[in-house]
Amino acid sequence: MTSSSLRTAYALLALAAALTSCKSHPQEPGADLHADHAGSAPATAAATAALPPAQNAVQAEMRLLHEATRDWVSAIANNTLEAIPTGIHKVHQARTATEKALEKGEYELPKKGGTLDDFKKQDEEFHDELVALLKASKANDLAATTKQLGVVLEGCTSCHTKYRF
Ligand code: HEC
Repeated sequence: MTSSSLRTAYALLALAAALTSCKSHPQEPGADLHADHAGSAPATAAATAALPPAQNAVQAEMRLLHEATRDWVSAIANNTLEAIPTGIHKVHQARTATEKALEKGEYELPKKGGTLDDFKKQDEEFHDELVALLKASKANDLAATTKQLGVVLEGCTSCHTKYRF
């Protein structure tokens, strides 16, 4: 064997060793990605299952609103706007219970970013935006519905930062 072919043989051996150790390496990037997925799916399911019962009327309304909002994103993504009104009706029904609790003075806000009257006012304005979403979806206007969902989402955060966190 010439010295150059020896060098080639050593190089090939080294390469083979590297490839073998790579294969057996548990931390290859692909395995990492899969591990993340495998870990997050049960964690999400557990988080949903572990949700304690709603403590008050506002929480119960908010959970319905949250579910409905996720459905509205799907309705917009698939242009199936006829799915939107159902969620809005459910939220409006739950809101009646919230109004009663507020009237009776049974509800205490987690964060006092304003008075209870300020909160009621903001809630009423928000529900007007939901009515606008309902109208846009009933008119089967995809562009207007998409824009109005943006307004509704801003309403979530604007109220949460004042009264929730
Ligand atoms: C007018 C005020 C207001 C608006 C608008 C609002 N929220 Fe809330 N939200 C609250 C308050 C207050 C709480 C805290 C309730 C509590 O813990 O007593 C809350 C809590 C929540 C919760 C947690 C419920 C739980 O199980 O503890 C979710 C989820 C939520 N909101 C989703 C939304 C979404 C989605 C929107 C918009 C589409 C939205 N909210 C709009 C005031 C609002």
